[in-house]
Amino acid sequence: MTTILITGVSRGIGRAMALEALSRGHKVIGTARSDDDFGDLKDRDGFTPLVLDVTSRDALAKAAGALSQPVDILINNAGIKGPSGSPLSVDDMDGFMQTLQVNALGPLMVTQAFLPALKKSGAGKVLIVSSQMGDLNADTGNIAYRTSKTAVNKIGRALATELRDDGIAVANLHPGWVRTDMGGSSADITPEESAKGIIDLAEGLTIDKTGRFWNWDGSERESW
Ligand SMILES: NC(=O)c1ccc[n+]([C@@H]2O[C@H](COP(=O)([O-])OP(=O)(O)OC[C@H]3O[C@@H](n4cnc5c(N)ncnc54)[C@H](OP(=O)(O)O)[C@@H]3O)[C@@H](O)[C@H]2O)c1
Repeated sequence: MTTILITGVSRGIGRAMALEALSRGHKVIGTARSDDDFGDLKDRDGFTPLVLDVTSRDALAKAAGALSQPVDILINNAGIKGPSGSPLSVDDMDGFMQTLQVNALGPLMVTQAFLPALKKSGAGKVLIVSSQMGDLNADTGNIAYRTSKTAVNKIGRALATELRDDGIAVANLHPGWVRTDMGGSSADITPEESAKGIIDLAEGLTIDKTGRFWNWDGSERESW
């Protein structure tokens, strides 16, 4: 049985991925920032709640240290939109730094913390829910969010290089424009559609595909 650790299952794509993975018979370890935020996921067979903030190294070390089982797939999903503004208009620099902390350093610290559990799997996989907005060729608005996703793309590519010899495959991905608190009600697809595609990607990821960037529907992105 596959164990999938997903960050940010309180709502949005993370919650939909947890439900999709459970429906396929996988075990899910899901993280939220408060014990009250797991909702009915807590009542589901195969679900293990983990309370942590992805920016807290102490919380990550404690959670990872308490975990005895292997993690087969880690999905770094938790993220924030951050302050709006282009490079010349953004003025909330604390918000900018927080965006980098959550969206870029968060996935790095989570992967570092749970690496021993991924190695125990024998064929661990790491997925990073990034965004097409991190593409270096894309627009200039929402520069905090874009920069955080560009940074996490580099982190994902570098992790792929470093983890290849351990047989751990790494993928960056764009989940689509999704109807969540972050994506808004006009977005293209539902969290459930995105989640199905991402869990398909996770199941199909192999070491020969490591270090690449995928769309939620399984197509590969050349530019990112
Ligand atoms: N929706 C889209 O159209 C879209 C497009 C491209 C990429 N993405 C990416 O997809 C991922 C999920 O987005 P979403 O649309 O599902 O967003 P969402 O509905 O706003 O949910 C974000 C999730 O991240 C968690 N989170 C935020 N900060 C955290 C922290 N410091 N530590 C732990 N968890 C934290 C939230 O927990 P709380 O409930 O505690 O805040 C929540 O569970 C994000 O990485 C986002 O950048 C989304």
